[in-house]
Amino acid sequence: TAHASSALRESEPMVRYEEYADVDWNNLGFGLTRTDYMYKAKCTLNNTFEQGQVTDYGNVELSPAAGVLNYGQGIFEGTKAFRGQDGRILLFRPDQNAIRMQIGAERMCMESPSIQQFVDAVKQTAIANKRWIPPSGKGSLYLRPLLIGSGPTLGISPAPEYTFLVYASPVGNYFKGTAPLNLYVNTEYHRATRGGAGGVKSITNYAPVIKAMLRAKEQGFSDVLYLDSVHKKYIEEVSSCNIFLVKGNTISTPATVGTILEGITRKSIIDIARDLGYKVEERLVAVDELMEADEVFTTGTAVSVASVGSVTYNGQRVEYKTGDKLVSQKLYKTLVGIQVGKIEDKYNWVV
Ligand code: COI
Repeated sequence: TAHASSALRESEPMVRYEEYADVDWNNLGFGLTRTDYMYKAKCTLNNTFEQGQVTDYGNVELSPAAGVLNYGQGIFEGTKAFRGQDGRILLFRPDQNAIRMQIGAERMCMESPSIQQFVDAVKQTAIANKRWIPPSGKGSLYLRPLLIGSGPTLGISPAPEYTFLVYASPVGNYFKGTAPLNLYVNTEYHRATRGGAGGVKSITNYAPVIKAMLRAKEQGFSDVLYLDSVHKKYIEEVSSCNIFLVKGNTISTPATVGTILEGITRKSIIDIARDLGYKVEERLVAVDELMEADEVFTTGTAVSVASVGSVTYNGQRVEYKTGDKLVSQKLYKTLVGIQVGKIEDKYNWVV
């Protein structure tokens, strides 16, 4: 009963309460769990950000004319904090997210926090919410840095004020229950085009993919794989992750040419794969090659490394090997091993 369990709790040492929030750690998916704190800092156009602070998690007040609400002037990041086996809090390459936010901010004519401020903000948010970091091996605390044009503007122009926020949620598997992935190659919708903003993490890249994604899910697929919008024959990325294929000892992934997000997991996996002896190619990858690949997998911060079980293109479905022996599983285990401090981090990625 509730009474008995609270009595049991009261007999436990106080530290137990402090260590972990009340979450079912064995059933985490990728959903929002409200945590205790967030980070917030503001800045006016052509200035630098004020010193931010960790505040209680809560709603954000905005002018109805805010640049982000009217014209989508906003970018975001995703990074994770892990609990090491020794209980330490480990962050994975947050400096790379900071750099990517600066590049994105430049593209979207926004002010951006310094790399130092970004990394400090992520650290402070993780530490403040440490009871929400899952036990080692059960998931991670997903940190969502958000940079928005918060000041009012009626005409199309850079907002006069920017807000930098970091919030957090404990997460498990992004594709919980649907692995290995069944991908649907959409030939009608495109995610990005040359000259657009597909290469940066603009909020405007995400709402437009929902329709195709829902339609694919209705038909039993896990997600959509997009093709380039000019030739309609080269693969680009999935709604939330980058894509790789394996053929023999060679691993190939689409080159980032402005239409593909420069994933931090993507580039980490490229480095790990090369060090494990694979040849890695970043180039144009025709959709037809997928149909002949030995293995296909996707990468992303949220997704980590997820193996693909099938790809359906123009009514043709190709299935891939699955199981523990896959190249993707070897890469996955190495990446996660480094992230949770189980495998030596020779790259100095973990802070
Ligand atoms: C991430 O992997 O962190 C992302 O930003 C993908 C997101 C759409 C869930």
